[in-house]
Amino acid sequence: MDKSAKLQKDYTQQSNMGDLKIRHGFMNAHANVFNGHLLGVKELIQQSLEAKKFAYCPYSKFRVGAALLTHDGTVFTGCNVENACFNLGICAEKIAISKAVSEGYRDFKAIAIASDMCEHFISPCGGCRQFMREFGVNWDVYLSKPDGSYVEMKVEELLPISFGPEDLKLKKVNNIQNEY
Ligand code: THU
Repeated sequence: MDKSAKLQKDYTQQSNMGDLKIRHGFMNAHANVFNGHLLGVKELIQQSLEAKKFAYCPYSKFRVGAALLTHDGTVFTGCNVENACFNLGICAEKIAISKAVSEGYRDFKAIAIASDMCEHFISPCGGCRQFMREFGVNWDVYLSKPDGSYVEMKVEELLPISFGPEDLKLKKVNNIQNEY
């Protein structure tokens, strides 16, 4: 089997993660063009692997990195940052998204996530899925392994039947007056 056929096979292979149609691939399986330059999945995953090196995780010793691709090709990275007061720790994805939003970016194309697990793709926690969903359901999430292999999923697939900002505008039985 030639290389491109193998990549195609890897890319379309069905996952054993439930019944979801999950796309598998290796780092150079496909690329996206943003703002005239080519930023491949490979580069985005590479940046998430680099971000993982900054992880501050003395308690869990579980390093996570994230690289978030915005509509104009700008990438924001993040790593997990833990705290001696355990519940204050922040996930890598939340940091990358918060960095982007705090610099005026809200339109996201994809996020790559990296960990040190070599036999499993890193799977974002529920809180991070909701954090991603705030900025739309139809963008890509790359769950990677340290060797660069990945699973591609949409936010919608990771968090089906989700609650989002649009729901706050839906018709309600009564109007709660703001007391303040
Ligand atoms: N972690 C992330 O950064 N992202 C995830 O989606 C999963 C978990 C971090 C939080 C904590 O610092 C460590 O991994 C172990 O849970």
